[in-house]
Amino acid sequence: MQSAKAIEIVGKKFELAKLKRLKNMAIGKVKSKDIMKAIKERRSVRAFDRSKKVSKAQIEAILEAGTLAPSARNTQPWVFYVAESAEAKAKIIECMSAHNQWAKESSALIVLMADKRNAYRAEEKRYYIDIGLCLENMLLEVVNQGLGACPCSAFDANALAEKLVLPNHLEPLVIIPIGYEASGKVLEDVRSKYGQVVERADHKIGGKRPLKECLLAWH
Ligand SMILES: Cc1cc2nc3c(=O)[nH]c(=O)nc-3n(C[C@H](O)[C@H](O)[C@H](O)COP(=O)(O)O)c2cc1C
Repeated sequence: MQSAKAIEIVGKKFELAKLKRLKNMAIGKVKSKDIMKAIKERRSVRAFDRSKKVSKAQIEAILEAGTLAPSARNTQPWVFYVAESAEAKAKIIECMSAHNQWAKESSALIVLMADKRNAYRAEEKRYYIDIGLCLENMLLEVVNQGLGACPCSAFDANALAEKLVLPNHLEPLVIIPIGYEASGKVLEDVRSKYGQVVERADHKIGGKRPLKECLLAWH
């Protein structure tokens, strides 16, 4: 028996994403073309199939990718808050803006925070760069795991800090809802519930600017 996401070998079911990871580990390195593939494949996914649960191992792999990011003076200012239970997710989603309520369909949410005690030149907000690098690593591992996610900064940070009883030195910067991307009937249902915003093509603001438009100089 074989499905799109799993394969049966000698009577045992294996997740394809897991096998792929094992293969990469066996090779001992990730080839640069795999990295470019993940970069090109990554899209903000806002429509999730709630019936498919993201595993603990997948969440751990995404967090680990974040922890391997570079940071100024190796300060590693990131702190993660993982919400999987309905109760924990609800607390976070309550603080998200009205147009981000599609996050309710996600399997898990990760709040990416900065520990300002542990940040390089915190008063100048340099740690935003470190957190950005951590975020992109995580989003690429989401792709590698065969999952979808969308970074969200439209939320009330003060309300969230209060809800999660965060100490002052922790600054929540991004919420990352994660799940299996919805398709077919499930996608239609999600769309009718939350509107077209969940459809990534509709929410893509003008696609990507070509490199020649972004390049100031090359001497
Ligand atoms: C820091 C940051 C904050 C974002 N906040 C939101 C958000 O609150 N809600 C949302 O739907 N998308 C959010 N996005 C996703 C962007 O809209 C998306 O990255 C952009 O439209 C490009 O599309 P792509 O990610 O599919 O390439 C955010 C992205 C970033 C990097």
